[in-house]
Amino acid sequence: MLTNKPKAKILVDGGDPDETLRVKNLLGFVDGQTTNPSLIAKNPEIQQRIAAGHTLSPQEEKDEYRKIVRTISPLVGDAGVSIEVFADLDTSAEDMLAQGEEMFTWIPNAYIKYPCTHEGLRAAEMSVQRGLRVNMTLCFSQDQAAAVYAATRGTKEPVYVSPFVGRLDDRGENGIDVIKNIKAMYKSGDGHVHVLSASIRQLDHLLASFALNAELVTVPAKVLEKWAASNFPMPAQDFTYKGVGANAQPLKPIPYKELDLNRPWQSFDIAHELTTKGIQKFVADYRSTLKRSA
Ligand code: E4P
Repeated sequence: MLTNKPKAKILVDGGDPDETLRVKNLLGFVDGQTTNPSLIAKNPEIQQRIAAGHTLSPQEEKDEYRKIVRTISPLVGDAGVSIEVFADLDTSAEDMLAQGEEMFTWIPNAYIKYPCTHEGLRAAEMSVQRGLRVNMTLCFSQDQAAAVYAATRGTKEPVYVSPFVGRLDDRGENGIDVIKNIKAMYKSGDGHVHVLSASIRQLDHLLASFALNAELVTVPAKVLEKWAASNFPMPAQDFTYKGVGANAQPLKPIPYKELDLNRPWQSFDIAHELTTKGIQKFVADYRSTLKRSA
């Protein structure tokens, strides 16, 4: 059991309520949960149905997603459960918003996940005006985080932005630098956007996120289990992040950019190849659970 609770809120990154419960028993608490279409497609019940030859209709897929988040919702604390809209590269902001408004009614502690794209940001802007809590996902750059800040100014509830550390590391760039740069940039802001460190692959990512004072961190069960097995280490005062990749090669630093948060969100350079690839992967994983239409 974790006795010295870190300042950062800890979320489980997954799509299986049994796993969330297992982590809760291990830590003694879970602050929240993030889900996404790939994680929901991996849910054991959905996988069993597929193995038995029963692929789902879009309605059945939605019903399953709702059932999963409804089971998880009472297990977690005040960081809520993030539910992701189904969006491909052509989905309009209005379509995302309509999905988000419906998903927001599923549970009392929902955060709606939109991608860090032009349409996703437009959906977020409309969502916060309507009182929806949002989590901006597939964030890979400081520009995208600046746009999230500017698009959601005036929100009543904190907005989450989820920079994906591991996926930047995967292509040789230092993903932790993005957390560091966004935190530094937000120092001049009003605090309405909270940094949710995501795509955590290893203990060092977790410790570096703590050391950088990310407000939240979402972590796969297997990394949390490793953390527990090593007796919940915390970063020491003089903690330095090594920034090496899986093959022990040093990761390429991502430099800080001077960006003015008061600019209109549309003026930031939000395009990122990994955001596009991330959407394509979510769509492919989502479709893998669906019935082929005739
Ligand atoms: C965050 O909300 C995402 O679900 C997640 O962290 C993605 O991690 P991955 O890069 O390991 O898929």
